[in-house]
Amino acid sequence: MTQSSGPKKAWGGVFQEPTDARVEAFSESVSFDRRLADDDIDGSIAHARMLASVGLMTVQEADAVAQALEEIRGEIHAGRFEFTAAKEDIHLHIESGLTARLGDTGRKLHTARSRNDQVATDLRLFCRRAIDRLDAGMAELQRSFLGLAEREQDLVIPAYTHLRRAQPVLAAHQLLGWCEKLARDRDRLADCRRRTNILPLGSAALAGTSLPIDREHVREALGFEAVAANSLDAASDRDFGCELAFVVSLTGIHLSQWAEEWIIWSTHEFGLLRLPEGFCTGSSIMPQKINPDVLELVRGKSARLVGNLQQLLVLLKGLPTAYNRDLQEDKEAIFDSIDTLEAVLGVAAPLVAGARFDRERVAESIDQGHLDATSLMEALIGQGVPQRTAHETVGLLVRRAMTRGVSLAELTDEEIAADYAGWNAALRGALGASRAVERMQSFGSTAPAAVADQIAAWRHRLGVAN
Ligand code: ARG
Repeated sequence: MTQSSGPKKAWGGVFQEPTDARVEAFSESVSFDRRLADDDIDGSIAHARMLASVGLMTVQEADAVAQALEEIRGEIHAGRFEFTAAKEDIHLHIESGLTARLGDTGRKLHTARSRNDQVATDLRLFCRRAIDRLDAGMAELQRSFLGLAEREQDLVIPAYTHLRRAQPVLAAHQLLGWCEKLARDRDRLADCRRRTNILPLGSAALAGTSLPIDREHVREALGFEAVAANSLDAASDRDFGCELAFVVSLTGIHLSQWAEEWIIWSTHEFGLLRLPEGFCTGSSIMPQKINPDVLELVRGKSARLVGNLQQLLVLLKGLPTAYNRDLQEDKEAIFDSIDTLEAVLGVAAPLVAGARFDRERVAESIDQGHLDATSLMEALIGQGVPQRTAHETVGLLVRRAMTRGVSLAELTDEEIAADYAGWNAALRGALGASRAVERMQSFGSTAPAAVADQIAAWRHRLGVAN
């Protein structure tokens, strides 16, 4: 047997054989869960203070524990703390650091606590902090979209369905669409935070404890909203991690869609948008290339977010009640989802802030593709023509314009009258992309007044100063 040369195990008593070194290497988690160090220390300090408040430790002992834990925190931050697979995870590392300093006092910290409720608490604290950072990053991106929308408020661009020219819209309208999606994502994040913000500590291994602990004390100290009501559930619940991974995935999918749209818009062929060069990269062989690699990576990274969510769901699928070691595998997926979205948000916001529309090229092409056909159809309906008839009539006019290679506005009155006897001058007011936009009147439409209202509402919601 390959024998461990490491320190005595936390479960030492009953074992007659040492842990196999291969098992240590296989089962360690400190290589990744060291990221929970701050949360573990915060949780332990709150736990120690609570133990003192109920008489399971003296106040002096709790003070010593808190002080030593802060020293350990300082060592970890400074990179001076020693990590070894033999001590398995961050919880055992910190506890053994404490015992090395305080002896028996350190050995009291784990009173009425298990690593099962400890890791569940640490992970919730970690996720709660991450949720707040992600929310701030998403708000920043919303502000970037809003800023660009305000700068481009009067610009009319083609909007597409099936990636075919459909109807004209204000660029601001399309940009604010991303603010809406991100607002829903933030809302889901806030909802996930509510369920994350529940305290498992005090559930102990699974059944609770016969010791007279005060969970409310710990709840208050750590700022949790409520104390988990069922110890069996609380020690193993990872729903909050799945929810977070889902919200992060959906946000990543939204940003992937955005990236795809802007990759298309910024092609020479579409010519709608110019990306900031600092957020593009070149080719090592084709000197003329200015590539949208950042947007491609935003799109590409959404794949790993979905992968992490899938990993978490499958991880939980077969687990019976209470803690199983499988749960150790939750962390890397959760960490990676958080890190990835933070990285994406970190480049997306400045990229949006630095982008600008190619107004000249937009102006050149905006009256191509008969974007005003629906506008004309609705004008006919406004004059009493049944919708199906109006649709068919405009279809004939579009066909005529296509055959001649002109826009609807360029057809003469005589040409139009050949397809539609009721033609009159008022109907010309519906033609042209800008007019089509101006004629919109429904709530939530791309009408300039409606878009101005959206901008005002977003400025208010996002706290943009006047
Ligand atoms: N490192 C473990 C994890 O992340 C901590 C809990 C270990 N509990 C246990 N009973 N072995 O899940």
